[in-house]
Amino acid sequence: MYSRITGTGSYLPEHILTNTDLESRIDTSDEWIYSRTGIEKRHIAAVDETTSDLAEKAALAAIADAKIKADDIDLIIIATTTPDLIFPSTACLVQQRLHIHGCPAFDVQAVCTGFIYVVNIADQFIRNGSAKCVLVIGAETISRIIDWQDRNTSVIFGDGAGAVIMQASATQGILSSHIHADGQYANLLNVPAGISSNYDKLKANQAFLTMQGNEVFKVAVNTLGRIVDETLAANSIQKEEIDWLVPHQANIRIISATAKKLGMPMDRVIVTVDKHGNTSAASVPLALDIAVRDGRIKVGDIVLLEAFGGGFTWGSVLLRY
Ligand code: COA
Repeated sequence: MYSRITGTGSYLPEHILTNTDLESRIDTSDEWIYSRTGIEKRHIAAVDETTSDLAEKAALAAIADAKIKADDIDLIIIATTTPDLIFPSTACLVQQRLHIHGCPAFDVQAVCTGFIYVVNIADQFIRNGSAKCVLVIGAETISRIIDWQDRNTSVIFGDGAGAVIMQASATQGILSSHIHADGQYANLLNVPAGISSNYDKLKANQAFLTMQGNEVFKVAVNTLGRIVDETLAANSIQKEEIDWLVPHQANIRIISATAKKLGMPMDRVIVTVDKHGNTSAASVPLALDIAVRDGRIKVGDIVLLEAFGGGFTWGSVLLRY
């Protein structure tokens, strides 16, 4: 038994924040942001819009695309760094919205690599016979943990959600998935506050994302190069056989470096970072959904998903769409 992606969906909040909008808030420029990151604009959730709101809309689109009923879903997994609540999990909140009762539902925290982690987990549930139809979501309201006065971080991130339905199949969809972490880099990218540590910051609404950008950049480029090699070797395939690269949308320069490693022209790489910024766990499923819906990724194509994020965490999925 294998797993296959049978439907995709995504959702972006209505409000768009452009680089020009940011120029009026902080000491930055459209030229600086675009040349260093490739970002032109990002979507920001409304004050009363939560991660589960975004996740629900992406889920409904994926359910419709897969032509299933919500009741067919027997497992819900959400990758998020920005859950609505400390508990219940965002997956339970989405389960309630979809009027599904009884199936397991849980969140996974692997920051920007979260979607790769949850595809890996869903694939294992399906292959060992524990689930047949899994709703897999990456959803974030990362804007809530941004210090909007910090030009190092506020120009980079945005909100959004992407979802896929993964179903049991006699034909192989997910060819392999690879997940990794190395906590020695925890200090380079983090929110240094939580429930059992620096809770005062959380209560004072001072729990903000901090990042040593150029250190993160260097490790990300090297690590993503290695995960590409690991994925190709695990499947005994040549890089020329990959039809599409769907990378984590962190920075166009990191994306280009990975494409170069694969020898892929940029027209075989799905790029949304210009329009969405870095939406953390939502970025890969958002990019996948957009490329499936606009007809670039077709049934039968070989697609490589990859991501890197806080932890550090990193991983990849090779699939036949
Ligand atoms: N606008 C204008 N200037 C800015 C700025 C901004 N928004 N942010 C930083 N700068 C300044 C810095 O203060 C520094 O000034 P100085 O030389 O006078 O000290 C200068 O620009 C260069 O800063 P640096 O951090 O070296 O720039 P960079 O080329 O490394 O680009 C990032 C910064 C953040 C775009 C880049 O490091 C990056 O993308 N890193 C990876 C981040 C990432 O992907 N994180 C998520 C991983 S999931």
